[in-house]
Amino acid sequence: MDDLALLPGGPLTRTGRPVAVRDVRVGDERVLTQLLAGLSPTSTYRRFLSGSPASVPSYLATLMSPAETVCALLASVENRVVAVASLHPDRVGSAEFAVAVADEAQGDGIGTLLLEELVCRARGLGLTRLTALVLADNAPMLEVFGELGLVRTVSRPDRGEVDVVVDLSAAATFETLVASRAATAHAAAESRQDRDAAS
Ligand SMILES: CC(C)(COP(=O)(O)OP(=O)(O)OC[C@H]1O[C@@H](n2cnc3c(N)ncnc32)[C@H](O)[C@@H]1OP(=O)(O)O)[C@@H](O)C(=O)NCCC(=O)NCCS
Repeated sequence: MDDLALLPGGPLTRTGRPVAVRDVRVGDERVLTQLLAGLSPTSTYRRFLSGSPASVPSYLATLMSPAETVCALLASVENRVVAVASLHPDRVGSAEFAVAVADEAQGDGIGTLLLEELVCRARGLGLTRLTALVLADNAPMLEVFGELGLVRTVSRPDRGEVDVVVDLSAAATFETLVASRAATAHAAAESRQDRDAAS
């Protein structure tokens, strides 16, 4: 994936590792199949609301279809694709959000980074809200949404699901939180460089 060149000043994971982010395109099917088929049973269930990876081929077909996908991004760390996130037409002015991060890469800020980037892309496209259907016990996803500063949720306890709505017009908190996360990541990158230099 030599086209995933890292840009100086580009995004960093929470622990300061550089992340390359680019649009998904035709030809990415193989690497995305590896990513999605390699998810643990829990991550597969949380992503596809089903315990089986049978949904992977139809999701990939959706990603390659401009009519069915508003925007799709993949993220790579150390030249390995570790995450994919996408927006799909919902109703007018709205798109549905989906994301999956490889199990071994979870908890390092990559899901947050992709959601932040998709919020910016969606705003640029004139959308006013994003939606997601999240399992009620999917605490990591609900926390990532919660940290965005733009979210309201409606729980459906009878179905074990939460409807998440991201209001793209509520700007101020979002920008402050993005800047705070970027500062954490840059501090981690500096410590990482100091450690590398000392070793
Ligand atoms: C849910 C999922 C996408 C989250 O992605 P992730 O990369 O693991 O999550 P992140 O690392 O970005 O966020 C985890 C936490 O780090 C925080 N964080 C992220 N970047 C940070 C930064 N630079 N500085 C400080 N904190 C940061 C987040 O706010 C979040 O807060 P918490 O510690 O209070 O939980 C991932 O776990 C996943 O793919 N799960 C399986 C599939 C799934 O559930 N998909 C969602 C269906 S819609």
